[in-house]
Amino acid sequence: MTNELFNLAAKRRSIRRYTGEKVSDEVVNEILKVALLAPSSWGRHPVEFVVVRDKEMIKKISRCKRMGAGPLPTADVAIVVMVDKSDCELWIEDAAVASTYILLAAEQFGIGACWIHMRNRAGQRTTADEEIRQLLNVPEKYSVLNVVALGQKNEKKSPRTENDLHLENIHYEKF
Ligand SMILES: Cc1cc2nc3c(=O)[nH]c(=O)nc-3n(C[C@H](O)[C@H](O)[C@H](O)COP(=O)(O)O)c2cc1C
Repeated sequence: MTNELFNLAAKRRSIRRYTGEKVSDEVVNEILKVALLAPSSWGRHPVEFVVVRDKEMIKKISRCKRMGAGPLPTADVAIVVMVDKSDCELWIEDAAVASTYILLAAEQFGIGACWIHMRNRAGQRTTADEEIRQLLNVPEKYSVLNVVALGQKNEKKSPRTENDLHLENIHYEKF
């Protein structure tokens, strides 16, 4: 049976090295359109995105996280994913689903992408979340879950195969 979504999900890998070549605005827009279709709690679509293309700003964003933001400084685009959590109990879930859609959409266009986590991560002075909000003028009531780094791929990773599936994680009828 053909399973196009399996093939896409299998090909999607975290790509952390980028060539520096541009990802077109058109492709970025198409990726964002997919993210806006992500399911959300109560169908309220609370997830918002700040799309950053300015290279100096992307470097500054990378410095908002004390460790583990390695892929960001060479990314062509950084999509900062956030929710007004004062009005959304399930904000983490909503932001995570939208981020996953971004990762899959990026792969569909052959664009490298990597989830750079920000929530509950240390910044230079305070938290990564707070430092990013200050940098990008995001109101305090918002929380940033992550930043998705996008760029033209500069590393090759093998697609996952059927052998990589953790089939033992699936339980039928009862645990
Ligand atoms: C919740 C979450 C947080 C992650 N945080 C980071 C991160 O901060 N930096 C990073 O380089 N990768 C991060 N990743 C990517 C994972 O390391 C990656 O998905 C995992 O190693 C599996 O590799 P794959 O994406 O190639 O399948 C994160 C992924 C998820 C889902």
